[in-house]
Amino acid sequence: MNNPFKRTTVTSALPYANGPVHIGHLAGVYVPADIYVRYLRLKKEEVVFIGGSDEHGVPITIRAKKEGVTPQDIVDRYHELIKKSFEEFGISFDVYSRTTSKMHHDTASEFFRELYDKGEFIEKTSMQYYDEEAHQFLADRYITGECPHCHAEGAYGDQCEKCGTSLSPTDLINPKSAISGSKPVMRETKHWYLPLDKHEAWLRRWILDDHKEWRPNVYGQCKSWLDMGLQPRAVSRDLDWGIPVPVEGADGKVLYVWFDAPIGYISNTKEMCAARPEKFGAWEKWWKDPETRLVHFIGKDNIVFHCIVFPAMLKAEGSYILPDNVPANEFLNLEGDKISTSRNWAVWLHEYLTDFPGKQDVLRYVLTANAPETKDNDFTWKDFQARNNNELVAVYGNFVNRALQLTKKYFDGVVPVAGALTDYDHNTLQEFADVKAEVEKLLNNFKFRDAQKEAMNLARIGNKYLADTEPWKLAKTDMERVATILNISLQLVANLAIAFEPFLPFSSKRLREMLNMESFDWVNLGRTDLLAAGHQLGTPELLFEKIEDSVIEAQVQKLLDTKKANEEANYRANPVHADIAFDDFLKLDIRVGTVLECSRVPKADKLLQFKIDDGLDTRTIVSGIAQHYQPEELVGKQVCFIANLPPRKLKGIESQGMILSAENADGSLSVVTTLREVKPGSEVK
Ligand code: MF3
Ligand code: ZN
Repeated sequence: MNNPFKRTTVTSALPYANGPVHIGHLAGVYVPADIYVRYLRLKKEEVVFIGGSDEHGVPITIRAKKEGVTPQDIVDRYHELIKKSFEEFGISFDVYSRTTSKMHHDTASEFFRELYDKGEFIEKTSMQYYDEEAHQFLADRYITGECPHCHAEGAYGDQCEKCGTSLSPTDLINPKSAISGSKPVMRETKHWYLPLDKHEAWLRRWILDDHKEWRPNVYGQCKSWLDMGLQPRAVSRDLDWGIPVPVEGADGKVLYVWFDAPIGYISNTKEMCAARPEKFGAWEKWWKDPETRLVHFIGKDNIVFHCIVFPAMLKAEGSYILPDNVPANEFLNLEGDKISTSRNWAVWLHEYLTDFPGKQDVLRYVLTANAPETKDNDFTWKDFQARNNNELVAVYGNFVNRALQLTKKYFDGVVPVAGALTDYDHNTLQEFADVKAEVEKLLNNFKFRDAQKEAMNLARIGNKYLADTEPWKLAKTDMERVATILNISLQLVANLAIAFEPFLPFSSKRLREMLNMESFDWVNLGRTDLLAAGHQLGTPELLFEKIEDSVIEAQVQKLLDTKKANEEANYRANPVHADIAFDDFLKLDIRVGTVLECSRVPKADKLLQFKIDDGLDTRTIVSGIAQHYQPEELVGKQVCFIANLPPRKLKGIESQGMILSAENADGSLSVVTTLREVKPGSEVK
């Protein structure tokens, strides 16, 4: 690769410090970032790996309020827990700091002030809900009320969790402040906006023309944002948790969390450089030198902030470099369901380590093997077991173990002298070199899943080599040949220790100890003299161990228990309603309709718009099920809908009725239909 860059700054999304981290975080962001950084370090490239906790934002204040503690208590607790989990999984940050640090407050304040002084913001006043008892403006999440769509109580100002519809606070019927319970009033408030519309032209060129190499999911999401047209975005909020807006007359206003958090990458770099100037030099070199390559590892929900908003901030400031790549991942599911903190549907890292002590590499391996690089992917315990037993144990571990045990047996653990190589030996080594080149190419292109697969193929080559040459048979007749075979095998083992280091650092470290191996550079990969003849090896141990069925069953049971508990909780939360008069039931006009057309509603990721044949005519219905169905799936299907509700406007579209769905405990929805086809317009009784 022709690399115009001298060094690389790698950042990984700062996780919110309002809960522990789970396998989804690890698979989506931290393991791939760590693989990449370890790879660059092994190549002796200049690189820094920046991490930290994101400690502002409304959800943290809500959690604090619920628990009756301060937001600072919450972030202190989770910052420590998250930091420890990352350490335990070998995520090798050069710095892991936090956005409540003084360094960050100063840096983010100055950044805002600089843009403010340069006139890069616009000021706008708007009307927002205000709580007159609590004397504060209310964030969307702090307003609850009746959902205009499904009429559930307790919908939030940004979304109804029952029907999934995105809302704005003024949509709510009978809004209430979640702080005091009082009825909020509309009040004028002033905020600062980053005029993204002014940045649109260069962003289009920079992303759509100059970065066609970005992953299709990233490029595609950027393109659709740009095609919709960018709007000014507020960068301040009325809130008492965050970094105060450093402007006269901005009392009670803080920087919006998505304004301050990415600046955290810069603050944390500063902190790192201040702590070890001899190692890292001046922080500016990591952020302002055009020969530095900036790479952001994130999940797909962060794409717009890292590809559009943050670059616009950096550009507006003027002295910063822009990201060269943003390898964002899609989401990882767990046993077929979306990972959810509130439903406890997750494998928490701290719990994994209690159940599988010392098996960090196994999880790293499985998460990379299933990395959601191009589409959402699924983690299952069965697959976890299979990959451990059939790949780590049976291929990599087995080859290493055989090579080391045979050397111990025949040569007292001393690397034997290689004689003349046969054609087969040469072919094996050539094949190994080819695969090594492939691993590199894939790593350079952020294809970690395929890179690891190829690394495992290196181990397969070794395994096959031993199986084909059968040194244990030759031991009786041709010790010289055995010496050559084991010498080559040991060189391959040493190579594997290097090749797997980015992926499985704990195993590589152990292997390196077993081999007594000194040099450990990526450039040496492919060499056949990594271990000199006469070199004394250490004590061989098993690199990986088989995971039994009973262990996996226990994990599956744990999830089944969670599911059951969720279902029960859901049932308790939804007890059968009070009896109604029969006449009331008769008032409901439920009918069957045939879906003629179905499409997504622009700028509303939850809504689908239907054209329904209702027997007499066609009618438009908007329904909050876009997360559960593809529009194509529903065309031609029969659905049940309430035909006599007053029409309602949703995202500017008049909805003439409501489609009925059944809700599972996990929140997924299934549209109600009839068992046999009926005439459109048929009444449901
Ligand atoms: N806390 C955010 C999330 O978990 C990510 C912030 S990334 C940063 O989605 F750039 F803002 F730091
Ligand atoms: Zn609703």
